[in-house]
Formats: sequence, structure tokens, C-alpha cells
Amino acid sequence: MYRTHTCGQLRIEDAGKEVTLAGWVQKSRKLGGMTFIDLRDRYGITQIVVEADAPEELVSTANSIGREFVLQVKGVVIERSSKNAKIPTGDIEIKATAINILNKSVTPPFTIENESDGGEDIRAKYRYLDLRRGPLKDALMLRHRIAHETRNYLDNLGFMEIETPYLIKSTPEGARDFVVPSRMNPGQFYALPQSPQTFKQLLMVAGYDRYFQIVRCFRDEDLRADRQPEFTQIDCEMSFVEQEDVLETFEGMMKTLFKNVLGVEFEGPLPRMSWFDAMDKYGSDKPDIRFGMQIHEITDVAKGKGFSVLDSAAYIGAISVPGGASYTRKQIDALTEWVKRPQVGAKGLIYIRVNEDGTYKSSIDKFYGAEDLARIAAEAEAKSGDLILAMSGDNNRKVQTMLGVLRIEMGNRLGLRNPGEFAPLWIVDFPLLEWDDETQRFYAMHHPFTAPKPEHEALFYSDRKEDLEKVCANAYDFVLNGTELGGGSIRIHNADVQKRMFEVLGIGAEEAEYKFGFIINAFKFGAPPHGGLAFGFDRVCALFGGSDSIRDYIAFPKNNQGRDVMIDSPSEIDQLQLDELMLDLRKPEEKI
Ligand code: AMO
Repeated sequence: MYRTHTCGQLRIEDAGKEVTLAGWVQKSRKLGGMTFIDLRDRYGITQIVVEADAPEELVSTANSIGREFVLQVKGVVIERSSKNAKIPTGDIEIKATAINILNKSVTPPFTIENESDGGEDIRAKYRYLDLRRGPLKDALMLRHRIAHETRNYLDNLGFMEIETPYLIKSTPEGARDFVVPSRMNPGQFYALPQSPQTFKQLLMVAGYDRYFQIVRCFRDEDLRADRQPEFTQIDCEMSFVEQEDVLETFEGMMKTLFKNVLGVEFEGPLPRMSWFDAMDKYGSDKPDIRFGMQIHEITDVAKGKGFSVLDSAAYIGAISVPGGASYTRKQIDALTEWVKRPQVGAKGLIYIRVNEDGTYKSSIDKFYGAEDLARIAAEAEAKSGDLILAMSGDNNRKVQTMLGVLRIEMGNRLGLRNPGEFAPLWIVDFPLLEWDDETQRFYAMHHPFTAPKPEHEALFYSDRKEDLEKVCANAYDFVLNGTELGGGSIRIHNADVQKRMFEVLGIGAEEAEYKFGFIINAFKFGAPPHGGLAFGFDRVCALFGGSDSIRDYIAFPKNNQGRDVMIDSPSEIDQLQLDELMLDLRKPEEKI
């Protein structure tokens, strides 16, 4: 037996016991002839002491060890003279009687302690060393707990975990597919699933009325802190349900996770907001409702004063930044530059300072008197001491979106986005379709399997763009602290409606047959009414852990270029593999 206890287990009650521990040397130091070793495993750290008068062999072994050596230590648990209240084993130490070096280690490239001296790149390259550190270990432990609680909750409700294939045909979720060439079928490719969407619907046709899977998904899209090319979903589907049943089931799941993992309880049902309200008031379909600073439309009160920018605008919106009247001109100019960056895309920013003494100072003083500004301030619900920031344009959604980005930025600057505070909500009543000016066609706002609301079905068969834009779906997103954690919908279960959907999306009959013939066909064999959703599991973990970045909650993540720098992937493959796959590569300079 390599060990009798772990390095996080022993307490003062164990004093006097003979024990054997195994682990890694976090550090060792000499003090007045004695050697102290911090021995670490994933459970904790225990201090080992080699006394000055210990047998010579033991002292010389203790002297020969370095950081990250793997040791087996036999000894007796004793009370420490100088206790360390910071660690659970801090009251005791092990007086070593024997040390067995199980393996040596070269000097690690960075210190493996909670606060490491290693930069991001070096830690990514040596991820297995980084994973020895406390914060990452805690993150993976949290991930494990959440997965476990999820499985428990769903199992109790009769959900079956069923695996679906990874080598499939493209599933349209709006991103690009990763593809895998098939050796046995030269010239043909599998696609890795962007989600198991079509398979879970086929499982409903097959009669498995409560399905879930904690499943890897693959999307070739631009990466951000909350996006990885391969990520994990808690993917779920149910038959014989309406929207209300799905929301109730998964609101229950999230509340259970909050309670059992974080000890956070929510009273009563979670708030729900329509997509239209979210856009109007927060300029985002994933509003952070931990703070107010809502967007107010000021079009009517701000127009007609001879300022052409506003007079010609179709929509004018504003937010009131609490306490912002103290912003200097320089600060406001910097903010104006900030919103003009391509990431935000605003043309400019209008400000009105609502001074404590009841006066106003604005960038539009030339056109607007105190009374006009007071009317705008009332409409924008500004209080004295606030700073009103306004934008205008010819498309309300575009202006609201820019104001939404500014609102989040101001929330960050004012410290209103505390990661320890949780404000979940459902966004409901999404439009079914989204018109894209560039390609002059509709896209599915969620995905092409989402059903139009029954009361909008007639509109759905209209040929008029204006009618189709009005069609809403029973689609819903679960949003937490400004992040979309999950989303889903009630699905189409009728082959004709599905055909119409493809038609509306400009997917011709032939293309639909080629890409989705299997699902259209399956729907002819008695598809039950069904619906479901998927949560981004990595995002759930990160937010529960108080972070925006999912990378720390994934054991082996990719960097922002989609690379795994530890195994150096993606990489070229050799000619033999290419030949077997019947693939000819263009040289990079031949790129089209
Ligand atoms: P959707 O595309 O909204 O829906 O994805 C569901 C959830 O998955 C998470 N997510 C991601 N997480 C990390 N990295 C990514 N690249 C990434 N992309 C998405 C988000 C998102 O809310 N099949 C549907 C679900 C359904 O209708 O049942 C789907 O995949 O948290």
C-alpha cells in the first residue's frame, strides 16, 4: 500500500498515529538542522519534518530532494509547535521515519503554488503542472460536482443519458463545422456535431421521452473568453411537453445546482422577460439584471430642436449613469472614443450632466435649453448627480445594442457586476426569424427546428417579409449575469412545417432533402410534440466559480487561436495519411 492517508486528511485528533503519505514536494526548507517538506496531493498539503537527530540516511535523502519530486513518507503524526491556521492540516506535522523517493522531477518551469510566477503561455504549455495548483484543482472539482448534481437531478426525474455519435453530418447551429475526412469513403467527410440537436429529436421519435447527455460539441467559430472550439453541453429533450413544462423542469435543475453546489437559494419563480423587452431596456438578449441603468427611449422629447443628427434619427436612446455627473470632460471624451471603436461601432456620444445643483451641462447646449434637457432627464429617469449618455440612429435595435455594450462597460467601471451575486432569468418570446441585409435572406434566430408559436402559424405561411418578421417562437434562453447559459425551444414535429421552415430559410427542396432528408422522413413516422434545451456546461461552471473565462474550468483547453500549445495541435499530417485519405493540400500561398 502506497499510502494510508491523503495529504489533506490528518488532524490534531490523529496525533500519535503511524501513517504513510505519498505526494509531490511543493517546497522544502532547512531550519536549525531540521528539514521541513510541504508534501502535496490533490487533497491538500501536509508538513513533513525530518529532525536534526534523525538517522543519517534519512537526513541525506531529505537533503537530496527538489521541488515536485514524488515521495512516499512514513512517520508519526505530531502536534506542530507553530501552527498554520491557513490550511486544514495546519495543526499537525509528520515526523518522518523513512522517505522513499518514488520519482525525481526536473525543476518545474514555474512555481506550483496558488499564486504562480508563470505567465499564461508557459502554464498552458505545461498544463499538467498548472493543474497541480490549487485554483485549477478547485475549478475541476467544482465542475465534477456540478456534473454529478446534474446527473442526480435528471436521473431522479426519469431522464436517460444516451450517447449520440460524434462523426455525423453537418448540424446547422450557425457556426462552421469541423470536418473529418473518411478514408473508407474517399472524397467524403464527416462533420463533428455542433450539438446533438437532430439526434435528440430522433430519440424523441424513437420514444425516449426524457433524454439528456453531458456532451462535447464542436464549433469552428471565433473564440472569446466564453467560447471554445470544443465545449460541453448539458443537452436535454422531452416529449409531450409545452414551453411551461420545459422551463419548470430546468428552472428546477438550475435552482438545485445553485442550492447544492453554492448554497444559494432563490425564492419563488425566476424572472422572465420577453426578447423585445430585453432589447428595448438592456440592448441585449442576455441582460445583466444585477444593476439598473436601463435604456430609455428619448426620441420624442429629443427631436425637433434644430440639431440635425437627432432630428434625422429614427430612434434616440439614453442611459443614466448614477453619480456620473462628476465625470470630467476628458473622461467623457475618452468614453466617446471608446464607443467609436469598431467593437462598439457608435458614431458618437451625447452627454448631459445632471448637476447636483439642478443645472445641466451637455454636449448639445447649443440647441437645447435647461427646460429641454430637463424633459430628456425626466424621460431618461436621471437623478441629480447622474450623467445621461445618449445615442441615435436609423435602426432602434442597432442603437440599443450599442447602448447595451456601453451599459455593461459602465456597470464594470462602477463595480456593479459583483461575481458573487447571481441574477438568473429567462428570456422568452424570441422572434422565429432574423433578416440579414447583407445576404438578403432570413436566418433562424435559434435553429431551423424551432417551431413558430401556434398562433403565428398563418403568418409563417405568408410570402410577405413583414409578416415573417412578426412570427415569434416558443424559444427561451437561460441568462445569468449577462451571459447566455442555455437555450432551447419547442420544436417542429410536423414534416410539412419543417419543409416550410427550410423554404423560408432559402434552403431549396433538393438541398433540404440532401442535408435533412433523414429528419423530415423520420417526422412522417409519428413524431411526438417535443422540446428541450441545452446549457453550456463550461459556462455554468465558470459563472458558479465567479469567473467569465471558461478556460480555467476545462482540463485541457485551447488558446484564443484554437491551439492546444501543450500537444502542439492542430498540426500537419504526413503524406502517407494524406494519400490514404486521397487528399491533396494547397500550399498556404495558393489560398483562395
Ligand atoms: P445553443 O447554440 O444556444 O443551442 O447552445 C447552447 C449553449 O451552449 C453554450 N455554447 C458554448 N459554450 C462554450 N463555447 C462555445 N463555442 C459555445 N457555443 C454555445 C452556450 C449556449 O447557451 N441545440 C441547441 C439547444 C436546443 O435547442 O436544445 C443549441 O446548441 O451556453
